[in-house]
Amino acid sequence: MNVGILGTGAVGRALAEGFAARGHDVAIGTRDVEALLARTEVDAMGTPPFAEWHEAHKNLAVMTQAEAAAHGELVINATAGIASKEALEAAGRDHLVGKIVIDTSNAIDPSSGFPPSLFVASDDSVGEQLQAAFPEARFVKTWNTMTSALMCNPQAVGGGDHTIPLCGNDEAARTEVAGLLREFGWTDILDLGDITAARGMEAALGLWLRILMTGQTPMFNTKVVR
Ligand SMILES: NC(=O)c1ccc[n+]([C@@H]2O[C@H](COP(=O)([O-])OP(=O)(O)OC[C@H]3O[C@@H](n4cnc5c(N)ncnc54)[C@H](OP(=O)(O)O)[C@@H]3O)[C@@H](O)[C@H]2O)c1
Repeated sequence: MNVGILGTGAVGRALAEGFAARGHDVAIGTRDVEALLARTEVDAMGTPPFAEWHEAHKNLAVMTQAEAAAHGELVINATAGIASKEALEAAGRDHLVGKIVIDTSNAIDPSSGFPPSLFVASDDSVGEQLQAAFPEARFVKTWNTMTSALMCNPQAVGGGDHTIPLCGNDEAARTEVAGLLREFGWTDILDLGDITAARGMEAALGLWLRILMTGQTPMFNTKVVR
């Protein structure tokens, strides 16, 4: 399948590697290819410059957000939540019509320091705002509740026995994404129903950050025991 990934940070890179390793044709989208490849700074979370990562992944195409969205039969939003609407506008509405858009974003307010506050919470979410802004796309929120290193490699902790939630208004899209997650080794997939479940999934960041700060490692996930 052709996959267009909007996002060049840790999440975009992890998912690009994961999809490519499973034989999918991946395109990574950025605002400005030249500017991206010229960056030399490490980000606040210690993620190395994109060019350094791309040197080892030359087979993965890098293009504009619009080109990547056009390439994707499946589109993935792996951009900063505060900028996701802008990124999807840049990707082009016409390139999203009828497509599943997996939304990995969180509502991090970048001006709030560490640990960050959420710029939207409790009675709304980024997931809902994106679905409302792009009604022609079929958003499925998932992968936002764990560190990027686990997204395509759940076996890296606890033998893979932990939970990944998903939600979205389109039931067929949720089923399709659950199938993809199984391809990546996820076994405990928790379908939470319509996109309003994104409120809880995005709010989980507060707990996630506290566990990170206490344990000093992002290599963990939670398990829903029924
Ligand atoms: N890092 C994790 O482990 C993790 C885990 C779960 C969920 N998340 C969520 O996943 C998303 C991606 O996280 P990340 O850490 O990989 O990267 P990030 O630093 O949060 O976002 C980087 C991406 O956002 C894009 N972007 C920033 N401002 C933009 C704007 N004004 N218009 C268009 N695009 C813009 C950047 O585009 P350029 O390529 O042009 O710079 C870049 O591709 C975030 O919403 C984050 O909260 C992250």
